[in-house]
Amino acid sequence: MDATQLAVPMPRIGDKAPAFTAVTTQGQINFPEQFSGSWVILFSHPADFTPVCTSEFMTFATMEDQFAQANCRLVGLSIDGLYSHIAWLRTIKEKIEFKGMKNVEVKFPLIEDITMEVAEKYGMIQPGESTTKAVRAVFVIDPKGIIRTIIYYPLSLGRNFDELYRVIVALQTADAFSVATPADWRPGDPVIVPPAGSCGVAKERMEAKEDDVTCYDWFFCTKQLPKEKVFDMILKK
Ligand code: BEZ
Repeated sequence: MDATQLAVPMPRIGDKAPAFTAVTTQGQINFPEQFSGSWVILFSHPADFTPVCTSEFMTFATMEDQFAQANCRLVGLSIDGLYSHIAWLRTIKEKIEFKGMKNVEVKFPLIEDITMEVAEKYGMIQPGESTTKAVRAVFVIDPKGIIRTIIYYPLSLGRNFDELYRVIVALQTADAFSVATPADWRPGDPVIVPPAGSCGVAKERMEAKEDDVTCYDWFFCTKQLPKEKVFDMILKK
């Protein structure tokens, strides 16, 4: 199958997150409606009882409170049934120790998707990689249910969860302060003003020589945004 033969078009950044209801390890969910007002990371993994996925779930579960403090909830999915999910998560808690993490309880919902209905809606099945397993997809959805970031990894490559947290903080910072965030940005680093695309504003700003703004040319202006301001904004959400 190639991309032109896909039955359902893959969602894109800026689209409304496709709606579905599903059974999960935390009961039935109505997505994304039930998560309205929160950021959500909807992510897929290839299969239960596999090592890379296990390391990912342990990492994500350990960071769940950190994401919750940024008003971001986590929802997992794989093409496995509910009883497989429950048995796998119990095994993780009871037996697996990895990088200092042990007794890890996964409290966020994990969707059962044996029919692949949700995985297909979200373009998580990529036949060149596998026709029976979801790739490692990440959809970041904002409080209004709009897809704001999409990241795909292949089966063999475990995700970087610090990067996913950075994505949440950067998106919230861009929204709250009307700025863009440059390469490798972390809270406390300079931000880009105004956001990319509004070069008329940039030219005006350069001519006005605002105190806290440094312009290197008409298209590249930065300003300081203290880390404390970023974290105050995140914690107030
Ligand atoms: C894993 O999570 O370890 C994995 C799953 C599917 C294919 C390859 C690796």
